Amino acid sequence: MEKYIADEKRYAGGMEYNRCGRSGVLLPKVSLGFWHNFGGIDYYGRSRAIARYAFDHGITHFDLANNYGPPYGSAELTMGQLMDDDFRPYRDELFISTKAGYDMWPGPYGNWGSRKYLMASLDQSLRRMKIDYVDLFYSHRYDPETPLEETLQALVDIVRAGKALYVGISRWPLEALKVAVKYLRERDTPLLIYQGRLNLLDRAPQDEGITDLCEKEGVGFISFSPLAQGLLTDRYLNGIPDDSRMMRDHFLKRDVLTPELLERLRHLNAVAESRGETLAEMALAWILHQKGVTSVLVGASSEEQLQKNLKCIAAEPFADGQIV
Ligand SMILES: NC(=O)c1ccc[n+]([C@@H]2O[C@H](COP(=O)([O-])OP(=O)(O)OC[C@H]3O[C@@H](n4cnc5c(N)ncnc54)[C@H](OP(=O)(O)O)[C@@H]3O)[C@@H](O)[C@H]2O)c1
Repeated sequence: MEKYIADEKRYAGGMEYNRCGRSGVLLPKVSLGFWHNFGGIDYYGRSRAIARYAFDHGITHFDLANNYGPPYGSAELTMGQLMDDDFRPYRDELFISTKAGYDMWPGPYGNWGSRKYLMASLDQSLRRMKIDYVDLFYSHRYDPETPLEETLQALVDIVRAGKALYVGISRWPLEALKVAVKYLRERDTPLLIYQGRLNLLDRAPQDEGITDLCEKEGVGFISFSPLAQGLLTDRYLNGIPDDSRMMRDHFLKRDVLTPELLERLRHLNAVAESRGETLAEMALAWILHQKGVTSVLVGASSEEQLQKNLKCIAAEPFADGQIV
């Protein structure tokens, strides 16, 4: 591929930025996740094209985790290669996050929420991504066995050591989120953001009071799997395409596509058409119009998907009762 020079119009192409809670950070309304399509099993040229397309269109936030791949660690290695090949001159224009909390290496110190795991994991992540610091480091999940204070103090110390600028948590229950907000605020390391799954098929963060609490406390909220891994697109309306995530039957199982779900998706697709939008566009726009939401964290297996999804930024608001 030819040498990369970022599009000089990258901030004039329609991307909009939301303030992340009560912080100084602005995040793009659409952010890019590296969970799929950036691993060692994926063709690097395609991953690279998607990342370039994203940055050229104002997507300044790339989201990773220690174990994204497969194999584990390989999405971060791809990010490191991208830094070398394309993005090093743009490091200060990028907001890069990573996480630790799920299974990463064997033995008792490669999983969950101990200080030992979080510290060691972030050091590994920085080496793989070939960067000195991440903009945002997350506890990837709540650990019921480790004292919350241990996990939270590790986050504070990571910031104090200069290895992350901000901290976040993902998939923590409401009561633990409350503890985190207080603990981190008292140590001058305010919680920047909560990462949770909110989409048209799963509104748990709203039902559980997470989004309300984030808004009240000045914590940003970023929605992962906003397209329900592709269900909330036209991908599965007429069967399961050979090149789709569902065909791999691993993270998105074929048996979720019941006749009832298909009927719901067809209904949502009809609503989208009546708005002059694709289902994906509408699904993302709906999230962005919810109270307290900072950004949608999409995945994409092609530049074309990203191109379509970016249209959500200009979507019309929703009439009362338009979507149920
Ligand atoms: N904190 C957590 O625990 C957690 C958990 C999950 C994800 N995440 C984060 O969230 C990010 C996004 O997750 P996700 O990949 O599940 O997001 P998603 O946006 O819900 O799904 C992305 C997938 O949907 C399909 N797709 C996207 N746009 C499309 C379009 N316009 N038309 C048709 N199909 C389209 C593609 O699948 P095909 O491969 O079928 O083309 C794509 O890979 C991850 O990368 C990660 O950063 C975090």
